Amino acid sequence: MINWESYTILAIETSLDDTCAAVVRGGRVLSNIVNSQTRFHADWGGTVPDIAKRLHHEWLPKVVDLALRKAGISLGTVPKRNSRVQPEKGSTAVEGTVPRGVDAIAVTIGPGLAPSLEQGIAYATEFAHLYNIPLIPVNHMEGHLLSSYVQNKKGTSSFSKTNPQYPSIGFLISGGHTELVLMKGIGNYQLLGETLDDAAGEAYDKVARLLMLGYPGGPILAEMAKNGTPNYHLPEPMTTRKDLNFSFSGLKAAARRYLESEKPELTQEFVQNFAASFQKAVFKHLTTRLLRAIEEYNPSMLLLGGGVVSNIALRKLTREIAKEYGIKAYFPKDKKLITDNAAMIGYVAWEHVKLGDAFTSQKLDRLPNLNFPKL
Ligand code: KG4
Ligand code: ZN
Repeated sequence: MINWESYTILAIETSLDDTCAAVVRGGRVLSNIVNSQTRFHADWGGTVPDIAKRLHHEWLPKVVDLALRKAGISLGTVPKRNSRVQPEKGSTAVEGTVPRGVDAIAVTIGPGLAPSLEQGIAYATEFAHLYNIPLIPVNHMEGHLLSSYVQNKKGTSSFSKTNPQYPSIGFLISGGHTELVLMKGIGNYQLLGETLDDAAGEAYDKVARLLMLGYPGGPILAEMAKNGTPNYHLPEPMTTRKDLNFSFSGLKAAARRYLESEKPELTQEFVQNFAASFQKAVFKHLTTRLLRAIEEYNPSMLLLGGGVVSNIALRKLTREIAKEYGIKAYFPKDKKLITDNAAMIGYVAWEHVKLGDAFTSQKLDRLPNLNFPKL
């Protein structure tokens, strides 16, 4: 009989440019290490696959070591020599003994950048093999979807005062994805709509770059928008389509066209106003689809996840919409759970182990285009 409260999962997440490892025990996060590669990609204005791959390879052993140490776990098995997987420093373990402290290893298999995913999968596969523990593949988007469920060390999550209710609608807005998901329970998901081109965060970053705000400029653009007046006309995308899909490339192109043809001086006032105008169009597009999904599927709750959900104005707007419909909006409890992290991956694996449907294998393939099944 497995004790779910003590079941401990080491999780690895390398879907893009953050090298992440976490330890999740009984749904509670014991450690959550995120080593961001952002500064190494900044000069190129986006993630460079070769750099991401090299850094994941170099950093994974250290990040895992730190995650285990912070969780107070010292592994009881000494791996073969030449392995990148190493026991904790000072470990007195003997080769061949069973592992202490880690019951399974979970890893993101997609969606994401193939060379990045491959690094996490290779490391996790080696770890599972050496320590003879199950290897659990996890969908990165399910991680974002369940990030509100993740509990801190004390067992507190966004659901501490209430229980999740279904059906719910997940709204996942990040640098790589913009999705509306219908959730009827853990493991029961259907994709209602997604972006047809750029993701919302990607559009923020690209427009921020046009405004010389650096990389990734999304959070800086959002900060500028706070003090701006939306007095530039930027078109709301796809007003004639009545489905739940998104598109941000037209909006981005309109912003570029304006800046290239008018050549405005990038004064603080201009940037603030232009940022506010861009954000207004993005919010309009996001909320039109969200409202449509609520009307159509009558959810009991909304689950928000992904980097763009860090945006305070967007949270406020979403809460207001939810309140209007008498439903509750849930956000991850901790800032670190909003953006890419391994704790959400470990949590998803734990839920599936409990459900008894965690697929385990000693050989996994990366799935860069993995998605929820379409409705
Ligand atoms: O989820 P995430 O860390 O990584 C992906 O899976 O993509 O999301 C990162 C994205 C970036 O595009 C970043 O610019 C955006 O989230 N972002 C924001 C804000 N904070 C981060 N976008 C708008 N407003 C923010 N406050
Ligand atoms: Zn993500």
